Amino acid sequence: MADQSAMLDQVRRGMIPAHVYNDQEIFELEKERVFGRAWVFVAHESEIPRPGDYVVRRVLEDSFIVTRDEAGVVRAHFNMCLHRGMQVCRAEMGNASHFRCPYHGWSYRNDGRIVGLPFHKDAYGGEAGFKRKGQRLLPAPNLDSYNGLIFISLDPDAEPLADFLGDFRFYLDYYTKQSPSGIELRGPQRWRIKANWKIGAENFAGDMYHTPQTHTSVVEIGLFREPKAEKRKDGCTYWAGAGGGTTYKLPEGDVDERFRYVGYPQEMVDRMKQVLSDEQLRVVGDDGFMISAASVYPNMSFVHNWPKVADGDDVLPFISIRQWQPISADETEVLSWFAVDAEAPEEFKALSYKAYLMCFGSTGMFEQDDVENWVSLTNTAAGSMARRLLLNSRMGLLEDGSEVVPALTPEQFHGPGVAHTGYGEYNQRELLNRWADHLEQPVTAPSVMEVGRADQVVRVQGQEVPTLPAAA
Ligand code: FES
Ligand code: FE
Repeated sequence: MADQSAMLDQVRRGMIPAHVYNDQEIFELEKERVFGRAWVFVAHESEIPRPGDYVVRRVLEDSFIVTRDEAGVVRAHFNMCLHRGMQVCRAEMGNASHFRCPYHGWSYRNDGRIVGLPFHKDAYGGEAGFKRKGQRLLPAPNLDSYNGLIFISLDPDAEPLADFLGDFRFYLDYYTKQSPSGIELRGPQRWRIKANWKIGAENFAGDMYHTPQTHTSVVEIGLFREPKAEKRKDGCTYWAGAGGGTTYKLPEGDVDERFRYVGYPQEMVDRMKQVLSDEQLRVVGDDGFMISAASVYPNMSFVHNWPKVADGDDVLPFISIRQWQPISADETEVLSWFAVDAEAPEEFKALSYKAYLMCFGSTGMFEQDDVENWVSLTNTAAGSMARRLLLNSRMGLLEDGSEVVPALTPEQFHGPGVAHTGYGEYNQRELLNRWADHLEQPVTAPSVMEVGRADQVVRVQGQEVPTLPAAA
């Protein structure tokens, strides 16, 4: 793209060429330069708790079998048969010690190694023609996890996941480590929307500004305790490492009272106090900010909210994890999981699930409002006029680049990164700045990996786990 660097400079100034939300050429670049190198969330370890459990997930067009092998090691195999390329596993999820290709019947253990090849002797002259030893399904170039969240990178030289996430790990803990047992997931619900994938990621990262307008009706019917959506500006947005999010400002109280205010029973608060750091507790207890929605670059988001789930004023929190899986420049598959502390009381889990379904998920009230906007935006971005329009994403900045409201001081906000109160598009700009940095750098074409290569780097919480022997 000839004028690409001028275009990306505009993005870095917070002026977004409108066509980036529906442009085939940009999408091709994103495939290679964003999704070819970033760490992309695929599954949570609680989805595959036992040896043999697997889920099939994608990084763009690449399908992976994410499975726990017989030794308990989490692996991700490229879901394509070594013979003629058939998709080896066609189910969405299940438990299997082996995967047999439906086309000609080659079979693989759940650690990826090939074990069965029909008519091996007649067809290949046995080992003389095709050595089975050491042959395995192609591993994901990189696999790593944090708090059970499993990520894949298609870049064999990707920086470690912990470095990629950086200080956003501090905030990930609120969603994924409320007790020593971590979270369990339900889902995902999946559906497709005719909208560009970046819009949802930006919205969840920092768009507190749309709540009073887009979601007026949800607030007016009394689903929330806060009578006015405008209250959102009292919260802050924060950005750290690969992600950022929004918060709500809580009424006066100590850390216990503030977690209880959003509906956590005391026994859950007690467990959070065991596992969260002093600084993490201070953000809630001293600073008075409760974590709400967030996004991790490029396409993962979180929700934490606390609607009323029954008559009366009691609220109850829910957590949702979601992914904006690009299908094309103008279509996204949404994957939406319900997440809950594995040690939460059963009654809490049931009500929290109900709260999630009411708000988000394919029939959620927020979801419906949001998607209407995003589809409309994507449609309008396809035409020739959109190529002449720079969208203004400079909220919170004055003309000279200084900030309308200065960032919170470390005494006002004890989390890492930079935080601001008031309305601002700080996080949308951060997200698109990372996108611009990736889009600018060509990817060195990945070499054809030798079939049967067994040197996949596998890390769990930063610790390398043993790879398979070269020959089985
Ligand atoms: Fe899989 Fe032939 S394509 S066995
Ligand atoms: Fe919304």
